[in-house]
Amino acid sequence: MTISENVPLTNYSTMHLGGSAAYLCEVTTRMEILEALTWAQQRTLPVIMIGTGSNIIWRDEGFAGLVIVNKILRFELFKEDETNTYLTIGAGEPWDSVVARSVQAGLSGIEALSLIPGTAGATPIQNVGAYGQDISQTLVTVEAFDTQVGDFVTLPASDCGFGYRTSRFKTTDRGRFYISGLSLHLSALSPTPPFYPAVSEYLSQHGINAPSSATVREAVVAIRSAKLPDPSVVNNTGSFFANPVISGGQLAQLQADHDTLIPHWSNDDGSVKLAAAWLIEQAGFKDYHDAETGMGTWPAQPLVLVNEHANSTASLLAFKQKIVTAVQAKFNLTLEQEPELLPLK
Ligand code: EPU
Repeated sequence: MTISENVPLTNYSTMHLGGSAAYLCEVTTRMEILEALTWAQQRTLPVIMIGTGSNIIWRDEGFAGLVIVNKILRFELFKEDETNTYLTIGAGEPWDSVVARSVQAGLSGIEALSLIPGTAGATPIQNVGAYGQDISQTLVTVEAFDTQVGDFVTLPASDCGFGYRTSRFKTTDRGRFYISGLSLHLSALSPTPPFYPAVSEYLSQHGINAPSSATVREAVVAIRSAKLPDPSVVNNTGSFFANPVISGGQLAQLQADHDTLIPHWSNDDGSVKLAAAWLIEQAGFKDYHDAETGMGTWPAQPLVLVNEHANSTASLLAFKQKIVTAVQAKFNLTLEQEPELLPLK
């Protein structure tokens, strides 16, 4: 395991902004996680573990500690019976490759999470979700180094505090766990409706009446590729804001105030989720290119902020603030940033 010094972090975030890390190393085994943590502890350095940096923004001042890049690979299927299969994966596996291989094995459960950038180990942190699936629905356990216990622990999904785009890993226990692996419960049965509207539309347009995990993956890949920029080509970190969740009463008031129907989805608890993309578009930021900051919004999906030629995280945050202020002024709603700004303060 090599520990490099003074490493620019621009290539460790798909937004390609931010300062340098005092130290950085890659780990490929659990043992190396321990070694890296011990090395940092001996020097009283803070630690941040990352995957491929597709949902993080580095501060311009950089990080005066050790960045651990998780490259732990593992993909093992355990077939319990004709229907149920358990999949054990290393946190450093590229997520889409995990989805592709599970679909190839004829399994369903994560096919709607196709083409999501990043590593497997990052998926529980914000309970990654798309097209009607999220990781909490198939997750059985998370294996992580628990800094409070000083050892590796196995957490059942019910202990992860999952919600919409959230978990204990990014709220109450932020920074406590370093995720090393996951296990998922997949099924040999075909996925069943209802599918997310865009997916059903694709399936019916292509005459697919009996969808399999492979055809749902095909649909999601087509939809995502049409709407979202590939982070290996365009500097972005996916959705930059979470969709705001408000009460039914607040929605009624907003619709009355604006004399318009506002796109929303109803949650089981009576709350509603609004489309942040719609709010941003209404606030005037659709296909927007800001000369002052070098930032813009992706033409087909304004929820995605793109670093066109920005040269600092300060510029990105200035652009973010323009959007937040405009949405606030128009709808009195505060958009919350979704990718993490690191190091935490
Ligand atoms: N919309 C607009 N204008 C646009 C695009 C969209 O008004 O230019 C409105 C439409 O009303 C549309 C709605 O926004 O129906 C929702 O758009 P979309 O289906 O693209 O989904 P989203 O809510 O904007 C979420 C996730 C995405 C995920 C998609 C698909 C969040 C914050 N984002 O986006 O996740 O791919 O659903 O399930 O929940 C990511 O996190 O990086 C990400 C891309």
